[in-house]
Amino acid sequence: MTTVSDARSKVARRFPSSDTFAGINRPGRIEADVKNLEIDGVLPPQLSGILYRCGPDPAFPPLLGDDIYINGDGMVSMYVLSDGHADMRTRYVRTEKFQAERQAGRPLFGAYRNPYTDDPSVQGMDRTTANTSMVWHAGKLFSVKEDGLTHRLDPFTLQTLGKYDFDGQLRSKTMTAHPKIDPVTGEWVFFGYSAAGEMTPDIALCTANAGGRLTKEEWFLPPYASCIHDWAVTQEHLVVPIMPATTDLDRVMAGGPRWAWDPNETTHVGVVRRDGSARDIVYFEGPALWSFHTLNAFTEGNRVHVDLGVSEAAPFPHVDGQLVDRSKLQFHLTRWTFDLDRPGSEFEQRRLIEDVAVDFPEVDQRRQTRSYRHGFMAGRDWSRPINPEVARGVWFNTLLHIDHETGETERWYVGEDANLQEPVFVERGPDAPEGDGYLLALVNRITEGRTELIVVDTARFQEGPVATVHIPMHIRPTFHGLWVSAEDLGQVPDLWR
Ligand SMILES: [Fe+2]
Repeated sequence: MTTVSDARSKVARRFPSSDTFAGINRPGRIEADVKNLEIDGVLPPQLSGILYRCGPDPAFPPLLGDDIYINGDGMVSMYVLSDGHADMRTRYVRTEKFQAERQAGRPLFGAYRNPYTDDPSVQGMDRTTANTSMVWHAGKLFSVKEDGLTHRLDPFTLQTLGKYDFDGQLRSKTMTAHPKIDPVTGEWVFFGYSAAGEMTPDIALCTANAGGRLTKEEWFLPPYASCIHDWAVTQEHLVVPIMPATTDLDRVMAGGPRWAWDPNETTHVGVVRRDGSARDIVYFEGPALWSFHTLNAFTEGNRVHVDLGVSEAAPFPHVDGQLVDRSKLQFHLTRWTFDLDRPGSEFEQRRLIEDVAVDFPEVDQRRQTRSYRHGFMAGRDWSRPINPEVARGVWFNTLLHIDHETGETERWYVGEDANLQEPVFVERGPDAPEGDGYLLALVNRITEGRTELIVVDTARFQEGPVATVHIPMHIRPTFHGLWVSAEDLGQVPDLWR
């Protein structure tokens, strides 16, 4: 058996050729400024602002010989759109981990969220990579990963300004990468799990007001400690899913995976009023299920509806050590309904899209937390051809729109050699109806080693992009991002000024 110290002594000078680091998952590692990107078509004049993207892009080959895709250093890219022009910038987030490894000139941190696999020189150091999502709130930009505090970034230079804890007010050591910004109140509503630090069970429920001041933080203990990637917020309720991706200290101390899937455990979904106390949380039960991402949620009388991508297993090894059955890793858009008159009961499930697996759902942010009609997402249509180098990653080949009023879907296929990343919705104007606007998404073109930023007009969805911005480099698939308008930024910067 190879020990952690054996593996450390064989630190690779090159990235391995495993699926994590080859094909679509090839690290990018380039911090670049590129002005006047080439464009096919016409960028709509309404698009004046910046698209930010955040993803994992390892700065060093893995300490232990191989790794999982999600463990890369946080790389933020920004695409400045204005007057039909497009410029871009990419920068690593200067986390403590990134800076320690850059200073040492070699990798020092081991397995995903397992500090027991690190080089002794970095024991106790903050391990977060800030690689998952972006938050814009009260005029500030942040990059986030769920195992640490956010990092504040300059919205124009992407310089890392440091970790952010609401001026020392936040007690939780972690914050979800999937907070919800309430479009009615302007509040930043978030949770942190492992709130007292890695391997601890507490969950913090928190709110910052529209001005950015922390107004609420309350901790509670869930039925068991689990990985909680996303959740749901309505105008009235918070919904916290406890799904059986569980942890075990002995396993982790032995160098094993932080999370393991326990198919025999029950899913517990906690529901609590936003204006109430965590002491009053009620749980609903269901079979072992997994979800990465929530599309939207709303409260309707005494019923809470959550629309999310649901699979039959999580992409972690089983608690008995077996590898996960990949056929169970198909995420289907599903509505979970919780009857508040029957706390403790099993929650209802209804599949909303049957024939295509989906992820990276996006709602018109003006309807976040409220009843809504339109949802957008990336889909995986197995009936279409896919280049095997794309299929090595978490790939998507179809842009989807669901209209809940008609039940109909619209689809646009990006092509055999392409990978579609998360779509971000931008409304056509301040008074545009829900869902009327543009979808912005990065598309990897694997055979050409480059990337595109596509702009799809939702009124002409199935015609494909009205504009394609050509990015002359490989952008390793990102997780999440957001659009910040020029109005919210206060200006559209000239990056070279
Ligand atoms: Fe996510």
